[in-house]
Amino acid sequence: MTDHVRADTTDGVLHLTLARAEKKNALTTGMYGQLADHLKAAAGDPRVRVTVLSGEGGTFTAGNDLGDFLQHPPTGEDSPVFAFLRAATAFPKPLLAAVEGHAVGIGTTILLHCDFVWAAPSARFLLPFVDLGLVPEAASSLLLPRAVGPRVAAEMLLLGDPIGAEDAARLGLINSVVPAEDLLDHTLENARALAAKPPAALRLTKALLRRPHAEAVAATLRQEGQLFVERLAEPEAQEALTAFMEKRRPDFSRFD
Ligand code: COA
Repeated sequence: MTDHVRADTTDGVLHLTLARAEKKNALTTGMYGQLADHLKAAAGDPRVRVTVLSGEGGTFTAGNDLGDFLQHPPTGEDSPVFAFLRAATAFPKPLLAAVEGHAVGIGTTILLHCDFVWAAPSARFLLPFVDLGLVPEAASSLLLPRAVGPRVAAEMLLLGDPIGAEDAARLGLINSVVPAEDLLDHTLENARALAAKPPAALRLTKALLRRPHAEAVAATLRQEGQLFVERLAEPEAQEALTAFMEKRRPDFSRFD
Protein backbone atom coordinates (compact mmCIF):
# COMPACT_ATOMS: atom_id res chain seq x y z
CA MET A 1 0.00 0.00 0.00
CA THR A 2 1.28 3.47 -0.82
CA ASP A 3 2.25 5.53 2.18
CA HIS A 4 0.29 8.75 1.97
CA VAL A 5 1.83 10.24 5.10
CA ARG A 6 5.60 10.76 5.05
CA ALA A 7 7.42 11.17 8.34
CA ASP A 8 10.96 12.51 8.71
CA THR A 9 12.72 13.47 11.94
CA THR A 10 15.74 15.78 11.74
CA ASP A 11 17.25 18.04 14.44
CA GLY A 12 14.38 17.31 16.86
CA VAL A 13 11.74 18.24 14.27
CA LEU A 14 9.20 15.64 13.12
CA HIS A 15 7.96 16.68 9.68
CA LEU A 16 4.70 15.01 8.61
CA THR A 17 3.91 15.47 4.93
CA LEU A 18 0.50 14.65 3.45
CA ALA A 19 1.57 12.89 0.26
CA ARG A 20 -1.48 12.08 -1.84
CA ALA A 21 -1.13 14.88 -4.36
CA GLU A 22 -3.19 13.13 -7.08
CA LYS A 23 -6.24 13.47 -4.77
CA LYS A 24 -5.23 16.89 -3.41
CA ASN A 25 -4.04 15.17 -0.22
CA ALA A 26 -7.63 14.20 0.71
CA LEU A 27 -7.43 12.33 4.01
CA THR A 28 -8.43 8.69 4.20
CA THR A 29 -9.14 6.58 7.29
CA GLY A 30 -5.69 5.03 6.84
CA MET A 31 -3.99 8.45 6.75
CA TYR A 32 -5.80 9.58 9.93
CA GLY A 33 -4.59 6.39 11.62
CA GLN A 34 -1.00 7.06 10.55
CA LEU A 35 -1.16 10.70 11.65
CA ALA A 36 -2.63 9.72 15.03
CA ASP A 37 0.10 7.09 15.53
CA HIS A 38 2.88 9.54 14.62
CA LEU A 39 1.54 12.24 16.94
CA LYS A 40 1.01 9.84 19.84
CA ALA A 41 4.54 8.43 19.44
CA ALA A 42 6.05 11.94 19.07
CA ALA A 43 4.28 13.17 22.23
CA GLY A 44 6.30 10.70 24.33
CA ASP A 45 9.53 10.65 22.29
CA PRO A 46 12.22 12.96 23.71
CA ARG A 47 13.95 12.99 20.31
CA VAL A 48 10.97 14.91 18.90
CA ARG A 49 10.63 18.45 20.24
CA VAL A 50 8.47 20.03 17.55
CA THR A 51 6.14 18.74 14.80
CA VAL A 52 5.46 20.31 11.42
CA LEU A 53 2.54 19.50 9.12
CA SER A 54 2.55 20.25 5.40
CA GLY A 55 1.09 18.98 2.14
CA GLU A 56 2.70 17.92 -1.11
CA GLY A 57 2.04 19.22 -4.61
CA GLY A 58 0.81 22.75 -3.89
CA THR A 59 -2.19 21.77 -1.73
CA PHE A 60 -2.38 21.44 2.05
CA THR A 61 -5.37 19.08 1.97
CA ALA A 62 -8.81 18.85 0.32
CA GLY A 63 -10.10 17.59 3.67
CA ASN A 64 -11.69 14.24 4.37
CA ASP A 65 -11.80 11.87 1.41
CA LEU A 66 -15.44 12.13 0.38
CA GLY A 67 -15.53 8.60 -1.05
CA ASP A 68 -14.30 7.35 2.32
CA PHE A 69 -17.16 9.22 4.02
CA LEU A 70 -19.52 7.01 1.96
CA GLN A 71 -17.59 3.73 2.20
CA HIS A 72 -15.82 3.88 5.57
CA PRO A 73 -17.60 6.58 7.60
CA PRO A 74 -16.39 7.20 11.15
CA THR A 75 -18.70 5.40 13.56
CA GLY A 76 -17.64 6.73 16.93
CA GLU A 77 -14.88 7.93 19.22
CA ASP A 78 -12.57 5.03 18.31
CA SER A 79 -12.55 5.99 14.63
CA PRO A 80 -9.14 7.09 13.32
CA VAL A 81 -10.29 10.64 12.51
CA PHE A 82 -11.25 11.22 16.13
CA ALA A 83 -8.07 9.55 17.36
CA PHE A 84 -6.14 12.00 15.16
CA LEU A 85 -8.10 14.99 16.46
CA ARG A 86 -7.58 13.98 20.09
CA ALA A 87 -3.86 13.41 19.47
CA ALA A 88 -3.56 16.85 17.83
CA THR A 89 -5.55 18.74 20.47
CA ALA A 90 -3.59 17.04 23.27
CA PHE A 91 -0.19 17.30 21.54
CA PRO A 92 2.07 18.67 24.27
CA LYS A 93 4.84 20.08 22.05
CA PRO A 94 4.78 22.89 19.49
CA LEU A 95 2.72 21.99 16.40
CA LEU A 96 3.39 24.05 13.26
CA ALA A 97 1.77 24.05 9.83
CA ALA A 98 2.84 25.27 6.38
CA VAL A 99 -0.18 25.77 4.11
CA GLU A 100 -0.12 26.02 0.34
CA GLY A 101 -3.26 25.99 -1.80
CA HIS A 102 -6.49 24.54 -0.49
CA ALA A 103 -7.03 23.81 3.21
CA VAL A 104 -10.55 22.35 3.19
CA GLY A 105 -12.62 21.16 6.15
CA ILE A 106 -10.29 19.46 8.61
CA GLY A 107 -7.46 21.09 6.63
CA THR A 108 -8.56 24.37 8.21
CA THR A 109 -10.01 23.16 11.51
CA ILE A 110 -6.78 21.34 12.42
CA LEU A 111 -4.96 24.69 12.12
CA LEU A 112 -6.95 25.92 15.12
CA HIS A 113 -4.91 23.42 17.16
CA CYS A 114 -1.55 24.44 15.71
CA ASP A 115 0.63 26.89 17.60
CA PHE A 116 1.95 28.50 14.40
CA VAL A 117 0.63 28.55 10.84
CA TRP A 118 2.35 30.13 7.85
CA ALA A 119 0.75 30.14 4.43
CA ALA A 120 1.66 30.83 0.82
CA PRO A 121 -0.31 33.46 -1.15
CA SER A 122 -2.14 30.56 -2.86
CA ALA A 123 -3.72 29.37 0.43
CA ARG A 124 -7.53 29.14 0.55
CA PHE A 125 -9.27 28.21 3.79
CA LEU A 126 -12.66 26.64 3.23
CA LEU A 127 -15.24 25.00 5.53
CA PRO A 128 -17.98 23.43 3.36
CA PHE A 129 -19.61 21.40 6.17
CA VAL A 130 -23.13 22.79 5.64
CA ASP A 131 -22.95 22.25 1.87
CA LEU A 132 -22.08 18.62 2.61
CA GLY A 133 -25.08 18.28 4.96
CA LEU A 134 -22.64 18.09 7.89
CA VAL A 135 -21.70 20.09 10.97
CA PRO A 136 -18.35 21.54 12.08
CA GLU A 137 -15.73 19.32 13.71
CA ALA A 138 -12.43 19.59 15.61
CA ALA A 139 -14.11 21.99 18.09
CA SER A 140 -14.19 24.60 15.32
CA SER A 141 -17.68 25.76 16.36
CA LEU A 142 -16.00 26.95 19.56
CA LEU A 143 -12.54 27.94 18.36
CA LEU A 144 -13.24 29.56 14.97
CA PRO A 145 -15.47 32.39 16.33
CA ARG A 146 -12.79 32.99 18.97
CA ALA A 147 -10.06 33.07 16.34
CA VAL A 148 -11.69 35.23 13.64
CA GLY A 149 -14.82 36.66 15.32
CA PRO A 150 -18.44 35.48 15.01
CA ARG A 151 -19.18 37.38 11.76
CA VAL A 152 -16.37 35.82 9.76
CA ALA A 153 -17.02 32.45 11.43
CA ALA A 154 -20.61 32.63 10.13
CA GLU A 155 -19.38 33.50 6.64
CA MET A 156 -17.06 30.51 6.69
CA LEU A 157 -19.29 27.97 8.45
CA LEU A 158 -22.79 28.92 7.25
CA LEU A 159 -22.11 30.39 3.79
CA GLY A 160 -19.01 28.29 3.15
CA ASP A 161 -17.11 31.38 1.93
CA PRO A 162 -13.40 30.79 1.34
CA ILE A 163 -10.81 33.01 3.04
CA GLY A 164 -7.61 33.88 1.20
CA ALA A 165 -4.12 34.05 2.67
CA GLU A 166 -3.98 37.83 3.25
CA ASP A 167 -7.40 37.87 4.94
CA ALA A 168 -6.42 34.85 7.04
CA ALA A 169 -3.32 36.72 8.25
CA ARG A 170 -5.29 39.93 8.93
CA LEU A 171 -7.90 37.95 10.90
CA GLY A 172 -5.30 36.03 12.93
CA LEU A 173 -6.17 32.62 11.52
CA ILE A 174 -2.52 32.31 10.45
CA ASN A 175 0.69 34.01 11.55
CA SER A 176 1.67 35.49 8.19
CA VAL A 177 1.89 35.02 4.44
CA VAL A 178 5.24 33.75 3.14
CA PRO A 179 6.24 33.40 -0.55
CA ALA A 180 5.60 29.82 -1.70
CA GLU A 181 9.28 29.19 -2.48
CA ASP A 182 10.28 30.15 1.11
CA LEU A 183 7.32 28.61 2.98
CA LEU A 184 8.77 25.27 4.03
CA ASP A 185 12.24 26.69 4.84
CA HIS A 186 10.63 29.45 6.92
CA THR A 187 8.49 26.92 8.82
CA LEU A 188 11.34 24.45 9.38
CA GLU A 189 13.66 27.28 10.47
CA ASN A 190 11.15 28.30 13.14
CA ALA A 191 10.67 24.66 14.08
CA ARG A 192 14.43 24.23 14.60
CA ALA A 193 14.57 27.42 16.67
CA LEU A 194 11.77 26.04 18.89
CA ALA A 195 13.49 22.64 19.08
CA ALA A 196 16.63 24.32 20.50
CA LYS A 197 14.69 25.92 23.38
CA PRO A 198 14.34 24.40 26.87
CA PRO A 199 11.73 21.69 26.18
CA ALA A 200 10.00 21.56 29.57
CA ALA A 201 9.51 25.34 29.65
CA LEU A 202 8.05 25.17 26.12
CA ARG A 203 5.64 22.37 27.03
CA LEU A 204 4.51 24.12 30.22
CA THR A 205 3.96 27.41 28.40
CA LYS A 206 1.95 25.68 25.68
CA ALA A 207 -0.13 23.90 28.34
CA LEU A 208 -0.78 27.21 30.12
CA LEU A 209 -1.85 28.87 26.87
CA ARG A 210 -4.29 26.02 26.15
CA ARG A 211 -5.54 25.45 29.72
CA PRO A 212 -8.35 28.08 29.86
CA HIS A 213 -10.14 26.38 26.93
CA ALA A 214 -9.00 22.77 27.31
CA GLU A 215 -12.15 21.37 28.95
CA ALA A 216 -14.50 23.23 26.61
CA VAL A 217 -12.47 22.05 23.61
CA ALA A 218 -12.65 18.40 24.72
CA ALA A 219 -16.41 18.64 25.38
CA THR A 220 -17.09 20.38 22.04
CA LEU A 221 -14.97 17.82 20.22
CA ARG A 222 -17.16 15.03 21.61
CA GLN A 223 -20.50 16.79 20.96
CA GLU A 224 -19.59 17.79 17.41
CA GLY A 225 -18.20 14.30 16.75
CA GLN A 226 -21.45 12.62 17.78
CA LEU A 227 -23.53 14.94 15.60
CA PHE A 228 -21.10 14.60 12.71
CA VAL A 229 -21.36 10.80 12.74
CA GLU A 230 -25.18 11.01 12.86
CA ARG A 231 -25.34 13.58 10.06
CA LEU A 232 -23.14 11.47 7.76
CA ALA A 233 -25.85 8.80 7.58
CA GLU A 234 -28.61 11.33 6.79
CA PRO A 235 -30.00 11.68 3.25
CA GLU A 236 -28.77 15.33 2.99
CA ALA A 237 -25.15 14.26 3.45
CA GLN A 238 -25.56 11.16 1.31
CA GLU A 239 -26.88 13.34 -1.55
CA ALA A 240 -24.00 15.84 -1.20
CA LEU A 241 -21.32 13.13 -1.06
CA THR A 242 -22.78 11.08 -3.88
CA ALA A 243 -23.06 14.20 -6.05
CA PHE A 244 -19.35 14.97 -5.48
CA MET A 245 -18.36 11.43 -6.42
CA GLU A 246 -20.62 11.54 -9.50
CA LYS A 247 -19.24 14.99 -10.45
CA ARG A 248 -22.71 16.61 -10.51
CA ARG A 249 -24.42 19.38 -8.56
CA PRO A 250 -26.26 18.18 -5.45
CA ASP A 251 -30.04 18.62 -5.33
CA PHE A 252 -31.41 19.39 -1.87
CA SER A 253 -34.89 20.43 -3.10
CA ARG A 254 -36.64 17.33 -1.74
CA PHE A 255 -35.53 17.92 1.86
CA ASP A 256 -37.60 19.79 4.52
N1 COA B 1 -12.27 13.48 -1.46
C1 COA B 1 -12.05 12.62 -2.47
N2 COA B 1 -11.48 12.99 -3.63
C2 COA B 1 -11.09 14.28 -3.75
C3 COA B 1 -11.29 15.21 -2.73
C4 COA B 1 -11.90 14.77 -1.54
N3 COA B 1 -12.10 15.59 -0.50
N4 COA B 1 -10.83 16.41 -3.15
C5 COA B 1 -10.35 16.23 -4.38
N5 COA B 1 -10.50 14.94 -4.75
C6 COA B 1 -10.11 14.31 -6.01
C7 COA B 1 -11.02 14.74 -7.15
O1 COA B 1 -12.19 13.95 -7.19
C8 COA B 1 -10.11 14.53 -8.32
O2 COA B 1 -10.07 13.14 -8.58
P1 COA B 1 -10.00 12.59 -10.11
O3 COA B 1 -8.72 13.15 -10.65
O4 COA B 1 -9.98 11.11 -9.95
O5 COA B 1 -11.22 13.14 -10.81
C9 COA B 1 -8.72 14.91 -7.79
O6 COA B 1 -8.81 14.79 -6.38
C10 COA B 1 -8.32 16.33 -8.11
O7 COA B 1 -9.32 17.20 -7.60
P2 COA B 1 -9.99 18.38 -8.46
O8 COA B 1 -11.36 18.65 -7.89
O9 COA B 1 -9.91 18.06 -9.91
O10 COA B 1 -9.00 19.59 -8.13
P3 COA B 1 -9.30 21.15 -8.20
O11 COA B 1 -7.98 21.81 -8.06
O12 COA B 1 -10.15 21.49 -9.38
O13 COA B 1 -10.17 21.46 -6.88
C11 COA B 1 -10.75 21.33 -4.58
C12 COA B 1 -9.62 21.31 -5.60
C13 COA B 1 -10.09 21.01 -3.21
C14 COA B 1 -11.39 22.72 -4.53
C15 COA B 1 -11.85 20.30 -4.94
O14 COA B 1 -11.21 19.08 -5.23
C16 COA B 1 -12.86 20.04 -3.86
O15 COA B 1 -13.76 20.85 -3.66
N6 COA B 1 -12.75 18.92 -3.15
C17 COA B 1 -13.68 18.52 -2.12
C18 COA B 1 -13.41 19.29 -0.85
C19 COA B 1 -14.33 18.87 0.26
O16 COA B 1 -15.53 19.06 0.24
N7 COA B 1 -13.73 18.26 1.32
C20 COA B 1 -14.41 17.73 2.46
C21 COA B 1 -14.40 18.68 3.59
S1 COA B 1 -15.22 18.03 5.02
